[in-house]
Amino acid sequence: MSDLAGQRILLGVSAGIAAYKAADLVRRLQDAGAEVQVVMTEGAGHFVGATTFQALSGRPVRSSLWDEAAEAAMSHIELARWASRVLVAPASADLIARLAHGFANDLLTTLCLATDAPIAIAPAMNRLMWANAAMQANIETLRARGVAVFGPAEGDQACGEVGAGRMLEPLELVACLSESGKTGRLAGRRLLVSAGPTYEDLDPVRFLGNRSSGKMGFALAAEAAAMGADVTLVAGPVGLATPVGVRRIDVRRALEMREAILAALPGQDGYIGTAAVADYMPAETAKQKMKKSGEVLTLELRRTPDILAEVARHAQRPRCVVGFAAETQQLAEYARGKLRDKGLDLIAANDVARAGIGFESDDNALSVFSADASHELGPGRKSLVARQLLELVADFLESKA
Ligand code: CTP
Repeated sequence: MSDLAGQRILLGVSAGIAAYKAADLVRRLQDAGAEVQVVMTEGAGHFVGATTFQALSGRPVRSSLWDEAAEAAMSHIELARWASRVLVAPASADLIARLAHGFANDLLTTLCLATDAPIAIAPAMNRLMWANAAMQANIETLRARGVAVFGPAEGDQACGEVGAGRMLEPLELVACLSESGKTGRLAGRRLLVSAGPTYEDLDPVRFLGNRSSGKMGFALAAEAAAMGADVTLVAGPVGLATPVGVRRIDVRRALEMREAILAALPGQDGYIGTAAVADYMPAETAKQKMKKSGEVLTLELRRTPDILAEVARHAQRPRCVVGFAAETQQLAEYARGKLRDKGLDLIAANDVARAGIGFESDDNALSVFSADASHELGPGRKSLVARQLLELVADFLESKA
């Protein structure tokens, strides 16, 4: 974590039960070599005492604009200048709303307005508050202004509910902060990646699926985040950990994947469709478990919408749309056909007949085609091949700038 060594981090703590984790965060940031100054909102004091933060950080905690002694020692403007990074963790719904609207009605929001240091927030709240349209609009506003948003994670919440809204763990936040300080080739770009299979339910216990592991899409998401991109990953059912700094949306069926992708599309610079979306789904999903009868069972299947083709002709089309193609023969010909027919900028084709690469493997090799060029990537680890493909995406975006 040496990227944070010597950094002067202003840690804003707002009102939420996750404030207790901010105490550990202070330690973790210090372990990474950073100096930490804690600024609490008034409400945060209902969850954790200032003495805890003062003891851990070795600095008096600031919380009021009107504390004359503290202002005399270091005014709020000096404090705003002192910070090389600002991290608000937890960032409550109220704090996020105030930041989005440029309020300066307490010390923390005033500092956020007065600093020219990069600001990151780690939202923490009930899942319905997080999903609320007003909250999402505020988050979009902040992102558009360059505020980094770390998390939130999915999982059990203090309120007893389960869903997105939990603050990332201290070590994850340290990793995110360290990553976001790096300026990579994809810094400032927003990428949407789909990954994994889709499961099309026949009845409450059976489904049609495929062998996609999601590893290639997850590797792309992880590498894109490491290259500085703001990454949203729409994942089918896979047992893989969310890469650090990546926003993940879990889905099951092709129709859910389409909905999640179209909802996340506005403002994206690139879309990479690695998901092995089912081409067909059962015409109907039985409400009850289907009972066996007779020797032959005929299933009626319907075509699923082609998400990739829809993204490529969408009014909010990202500038770079990348498809994947799994082929067993005439790879170049079929891949170029899909590039043209679906209106893509790049297509990455796998030869799935080749041993040692593809589906469950950690290795891959891709032939990438654009309208006027082709590139051979790998064979190698999926992370390496992902990085090479992202370099092509970065080249493409730069050429269209
Ligand atoms: N794709 C999609 N929506 C679908 C099906 C596929 O977005 N309903 C995307 C995949 O994410 C991938 C690409 O399309 O990027 C795969 O193209 P496709 O023509 O579906 O490939 P195959 O399924 O291999 O097609 P075929 O069997 O006709 O070769």
